[in-house]
Amino acid sequence: MMYTCAMKTVRTKFEILNTEFKIRYQRNPISAVTTRLKRSGSIAEKLSRQNLPFSTDSIEAHINDVAGVRVICSYVDDIYRIADALLKQDDVTLVARKDYIASPKPNGYRSLHLIVQVPVFFADQKKNLKVEAQIRTIAMDFWASLEHQLKYKKEIADPEEVIGQLKACAESIHATDRLPS
Ligand code: GTP
Ligand code: MG
Repeated sequence: MMYTCAMKTVRTKFEILNTEFKIRYQRNPISAVTTRLKRSGSIAEKLSRQNLPFSTDSIEAHINDVAGVRVICSYVDDIYRIADALLKQDDVTLVARKDYIASPKPNGYRSLHLIVQVPVFFADQKKNLKVEAQIRTIAMDFWASLEHQLKYKKEIADPEEVIGQLKACAESIHATDRLPS
C-alpha cells in the first residue's frame, strides 16, 4: 500500500511537469506514464538471492524497485529535461542514477534510470520511500518491450541470430531518435 502511494506521488510529479511544459511550449514532452508494483514473490526471490530476510525493514533497505514508474517521452532531450526538473525538487532525493542512453547495455538497451526517494504522508506517519523511474523515448520503449518478450520465448531456433538482430534494431531506432529536428 505504501509503495502504491509512493508511485502515485512520483507519477503526479511527472504529470505536473508535463502540464507545465505543455502550457510553456505548446507540446507534451511526456507521451505516457505507467506504474507497476513488484509482486511479493519477486521481492522474496530477490531478497533470498542475497540471503536477506523477507521483512518490511529489509525490503525498505535493500529493494529499490518495489515501486516502478515508467515515463515515455517524445524526444531524447525531453528525458534529461524531465529528469533534471524532477531532481531539482527539494523533496526528491536521488539515490542512484544509471544512464543507459549515454552508456547503452551490450544488448542495445537504452533508458535513463533514477532511483529517487520521496516523502509520502499517511494519517499518522511520514515514510521516505524509494521509487525506480525509467525514462525513455517511444522508440527505446518499443525496443525494450520487444526484447523483454523475446527473452522469455523459449522456442527461439537461433538465439544468437535474434540477439544480433535486436542489437542492430536498437542501433537503428536510436539513429532515428537522434535525427535533427
Ligand atoms: P535489478 O532491478 O536487480 O535488475 O537491478 P539492476 O541494478 O540490474 O538494475 P538495472 O537498472 O540494470 O535494471 C532495472 C530494470 O530496468 C529492469 O528490471 C528492467 O525493467 C529494465 N531493464 C534493464 N535492462 C534491461 C534490458 O536489457 N532489457 C529490458 N527489456 N529491460 C531492461
Ligand atoms: Mg537487472
